[in-house]
Amino acid sequence: MANHKHVAVLPGDGIGPEIVDEGVKVMKAVGDRFDYTFHFSFGLVGGGAIERLKQPLPEETLTQCRKADAVLLGAVGGPRWDRNPPHLRPEKALLGLRKELGLYANLRPAILYPGLESSSSLKPEVLEGVDLMVVRELTGGLYFGDKRTEKTADGLKATDTLVYHEHEVERIVHRAFQLAQGRRKHVTSVDKANILESSRLWRSVVERVAKQYPEVEVEHMLVDNCAMQMVRRPADFDVIVTENLFGDILSDEAAILTGSIGMLPSASLGEGTFGLYEPVHGSAPDIAGQGVANPVATILSVAMMFRHSFHNEEAAGMIEKAVREVLASGARTMDVASPGALALSTEEMGDKVVEAIRRQQ
Ligand code: NAI
Ligand code: MG
Repeated sequence: MANHKHVAVLPGDGIGPEIVDEGVKVMKAVGDRFDYTFHFSFGLVGGGAIERLKQPLPEETLTQCRKADAVLLGAVGGPRWDRNPPHLRPEKALLGLRKELGLYANLRPAILYPGLESSSSLKPEVLEGVDLMVVRELTGGLYFGDKRTEKTADGLKATDTLVYHEHEVERIVHRAFQLAQGRRKHVTSVDKANILESSRLWRSVVERVAKQYPEVEVEHMLVDNCAMQMVRRPADFDVIVTENLFGDILSDEAAILTGSIGMLPSASLGEGTFGLYEPVHGSAPDIAGQGVANPVATILSVAMMFRHSFHNEEAAGMIEKAVREVLASGARTMDVASPGALALSTEEMGDKVVEAIRRQQ
């Protein structure tokens, strides 16, 4: 059965379970339309896994993910585990999943949906037409380099190491150019080549790879300038490709372009079609358990799953169209509602998207 898919579902902590429920609901609704049958396997990750199994990423969960066609992740973390030692921190599971599953390409699209201009802190005219994609390298750089703290005669000394191999840069840059081919054919490669050796390597690889994509225009931008241009003229960006740390920061900056961090989906990909899909936001402990979180980031992550892992552009488009319609009708969760307006619950918002999917021909 070509349309049978095994999806590992890892709800995680805080609002994770609430938003993942809505993601699964949407997946089933679209699945009905395209004759998918799903096998969902639910796994423990993050704080919940620490409580039950004394480790943030149990082997059992990893095995489940390896057997699956795709993974849907909520979020991990919370104040309860903030004082834990590094190996018992929920966030440790995220780095583990990426590394163990070989997910080196993190795609974070930021699209301004009509009607949400007023939720952003930027002027509506600056935001008009924003549709960009940050492609962040995910398994190299500072986050994975040697880390240590030592005692010296001058006091404590802490070191983090930023390492990139040519082949690591090459594969992520190819991914960015391929994505640009299906979009507006423009790649901005972001680095700090005036200072960092790893950035000089990055830039030379981009120059070389770019020759294989003559129809795609490429520009290099220093990261500090990019941070500025992203709020000055965000609509000019198409695909932004960058290393791990820069990508982490720039993609959070991109969140304000879309009105709320509750709107931003992501896909983490490796070779082949397997991928991990999750909202960009965290576990939002401040609103957990209240049923008010915005499920759209997770729902749009499900759309990315259909696009990148199941190669079903039509299904992905159906979800995105439904979200667009629902937002255009004025339906809003608390994070994007105008002050004083009635906000929908997480579940109500998910229901609206499902209804909009069912209405599509
Ligand atoms: P956060 O993204 O969880 O929350 C930041 C702010 O945005 C909060 O005010 C929250 O209420 C709001 N927010 C987030 N998602 C929302 C949604 N779907 N709807 C409405 N409002 C939403 O980031 P924060 O507070 O820095 O981190 C909380 C915990 O999450 C920490 O333990 C952190 O380590 C973890 N975290 C986990 C991530 C993951 O699992 N991928 C990513 C980022 C943080
Ligand atoms: Mg971040």
